[in-house]
Amino acid sequence: MIKFHGSNKLKTAVFISGTGSNFKNLVKFSNSKISPIEITFLISNNSKAKGLIYARGKKIKQKIFKFKNKIKDENMILNQLNKENIKLICLAGFMVILSKNFIKKFKGKILNIHPSLLPKFKGLNTHKRAIENNEKFSGCTVHLVTSKLDSGKIILQKKVKISKNDNPKTLAKKILKQEHILYPKAIKKIFSNL
Ligand code: GAR
Repeated sequence: MIKFHGSNKLKTAVFISGTGSNFKNLVKFSNSKISPIEITFLISNNSKAKGLIYARGKKIKQKIFKFKNKIKDENMILNQLNKENIKLICLAGFMVILSKNFIKKFKGKILNIHPSLLPKFKGLNTHKRAIENNEKFSGCTVHLVTSKLDSGKIILQKKVKISKNDNPKTLAKKILKQEHILYPKAIKKIFSNL
């Protein structure tokens, strides 16, 4: 197994909008010797995102962009990412749709975690829709980001059983637990050919 040290880990930025439990989990993973990535930058579109507090404690650089002017903010982010030598972006509960131009600049280097078994239930309210559709299973997917929403190449998926008593909240909780396992696993998979 290849061991990655500070100097040869890929500098990675995480983008969040809210709680940031995936972010926190990725930071923990990135601190392990087997992680090919090092999280050095956090971007949020929400100044109240809880993940910002965690990042401060871990001394991870952070910036807030409110995306009121998307083109302007995306250009500033691109400059910042270049300056920080960021080579990979992990979207983790980031609720802004990035522009085609932005995605092109980081082609093949943006990952996202989505709380459904893609291609089923792209977009929002995945858990509610899965339950209403009487699905037996839902789950989560790590995929590459392309300009088509939630449609890029799938890296890994994890199935989660929907039980009769599940509501969107309980299902979200069950799936989030699996997301925390899946995201690091997917990152390891991408780099396993090194
Ligand atoms: C996660 O369930 C993630 O899959 C979802 O938001 C949640 C964020 O939780 N992402 C999306 O819905 C993206 N379309 P977290 O802030 O605790 O990581």
